[in-house]
Amino acid sequence: MTDTHSPESAVQTNREAAASHFCDRATFTIVAERRSVRGFKADPVDDSTIDAILAGASRAPSAQNMQPWRVHVVTGKTKDLLTEEVSSAVLRGERSDEYNYLPEKIVEPYLARRRKVGLDLFAIYGIDRDDIDGRTRAYLRNFAFFGAPLGLFFVIERTMSQGAWLDCGAFMQNVMILARAAGLETCPQQSWCDHGAVVHRVLGIPEDQILVSGMAVGFMDAEVAANRLRTERAPVEEFTIRHR
Ligand SMILES: Cc1cc2nc3c(=O)[nH]c(=O)nc-3n(C[C@H](O)[C@H](O)[C@H](O)COP(=O)(O)O)c2cc1C
Repeated sequence: MTDTHSPESAVQTNREAAASHFCDRATFTIVAERRSVRGFKADPVDDSTIDAILAGASRAPSAQNMQPWRVHVVTGKTKDLLTEEVSSAVLRGERSDEYNYLPEKIVEPYLARRRKVGLDLFAIYGIDRDDIDGRTRAYLRNFAFFGAPLGLFFVIERTMSQGAWLDCGAFMQNVMILARAAGLETCPQQSWCDHGAVVHRVLGIPEDQILVSGMAVGFMDAEVAANRLRTERAPVEEFTIRHR
């Protein structure tokens, strides 16, 4: 029997109610069930599959159709080299921030949301608040692409203004959704931007381009504990202002 009072079943019921509004439920499900996956199988992703995902994603809108995104697709030896070089930089205590993703002061409710997802993930990893080594090990998993066989790096021209970041975000979301449609999962990874100089050097990204984000892509390994994480969302009323 299903426990109709559990948070999980409440989410399920809400999701079913929401899904009933869409004539194309498959799309709704692909969007609603997308999540950041932090444990992948080593199985490779076909070149033709990733090309199809990128071609589909490039249907993203962009101001005046400028399509400001560029993508580096990284596999094999280059991927291993990136892992090695960035991990060594982390262990040497080096950082070379590409840009500031976070504001200097994070205010509520964002602070609490950020803290919750961090604590939930560390609880799954079994890492205590004061376990600096454990935190470093968890951070380093990013730079092994969480075991994924393929990494994507999204860059735009430095001369572009904020608008191009919006366009690139829309493109990235399309990639994440279409990856799911192809049976793959993703984790967007801004953490690579903590080590922008190393990524630039290894991938030969010219200085007039800025690294927006990395992304791990592959087949989910359901056995990896981190993939038990389920994140919350604020209800629509909390972020919506109606004007009638
Ligand atoms: C631009 C961007 C960068 C992110 N960078 C990282 C990252 O470096 N490492 C990581 O584990 N998760 C990263 N995430 C994933 C977020 O933590 C995640 O999207 C958020 O907690 C909501 O969870 P969900 O994606 O599972 O729905 C990033 C997400 C975005 C949108």
